[in-house]
Amino acid sequence: MSDGLFDLTGRVALVTGTSRGLGQYFARALAKAGADLILTSRKKESLKEFAAEIEGMGRRQHCVDLDVRDEQSIRRMAAEAEQAFGKIDILVNNAGCNVRKPALEVTWDDWNTVLDTNLRGSFFVAQAVARGMVERGYGRIINIGSVTSVAGYAGLGPYGASRGGIRQLTMSLADDWGRHGVTVNCLAPGWFQTAQNRVMYEDKEWVEYLTERIPLKRPGRPDDLDGAVVFLASEASRYVTGQTMLVDGGISTGAMRALPRTGRPGERA
Ligand SMILES: NC(=O)c1ccc[n+]([C@@H]2O[C@H](COP(=O)([O-])OP(=O)(O)OC[C@H]3O[C@@H](n4cnc5c(N)ncnc54)[C@H](OP(=O)(O)O)[C@@H]3O)[C@@H](O)[C@H]2O)c1
Repeated sequence: MSDGLFDLTGRVALVTGTSRGLGQYFARALAKAGADLILTSRKKESLKEFAAEIEGMGRRQHCVDLDVRDEQSIRRMAAEAEQAFGKIDILVNNAGCNVRKPALEVTWDDWNTVLDTNLRGSFFVAQAVARGMVERGYGRIINIGSVTSVAGYAGLGPYGASRGGIRQLTMSLADDWGRHGVTVNCLAPGWFQTAQNRVMYEDKEWVEYLTERIPLKRPGRPDDLDGAVVFLASEASRYVTGQTMLVDGGISTGAMRALPRTGRPGERA
């Protein structure tokens, strides 16, 4: 029925930040759809087990060191990754970090860590990888954003600024590289439990509060993102570029989510 629209056989995908968390889910979903994988971490030894899993799925893999806060590291990674399988067709710009603090406590260093990693890092990885894509006239770039790309949350100032920036960057790069056959989209997950935010999910009351505000009534499971990443990486999305796709159980549907069930304006819980 789908006429191979979602088939990634013969494609090479680079997913940054695959030592744990969502990056591994993205890589696994792309491998299941047929892609060979380039995996990265600041310590590539930590990728051994996951690399074996990808090979066990019958796909080729190559592991590369990458620190997205280091310009030379990005250049070396892109050169090695291109050489490994002769091309990169798909980039998932997933490596990222967060510092959760009330705005009055955020330091200069906190700001730099989050913005340098999430925003500057994603831009320069995309730039390094897009050179080959532009030459070959084909590419799919998927920048990982967040529900904070479109909504504000207390305690997430620098993070939200970086993710709002990713949404904007996605539109600019889509306009820049569309003429070369390269699409650029942003996949924006809502609230998913991973190593990055484990502490929050240990707080039962907070999880209940969160769940109540999600229209689909549960936090995300990482494999809820499989369909979106394969769609944006495949032929199925060939006429989609510059877009932000929220996969968030509907939590971004509006400011009214903080109101009680009756939803009458002015009637607070
Ligand atoms: N979890 C959520 O609910 C959620 C929601 C929306 C968006 N996101 C975003 O989705 C991405 C993955 O989230 P996650 O929860 O899976 O995070 P995670 O568990 O903390 O994993 C982050 C990954 O990024 C890599 N990384 C961190 N700093 C790096 C750097 N300077 N250079 C290169 N790689 C670096 C880490 O690799 P090494 O430490 O091995 O280098 C790790 O593999 C992040 O960008 C996050 O902001 C997450």
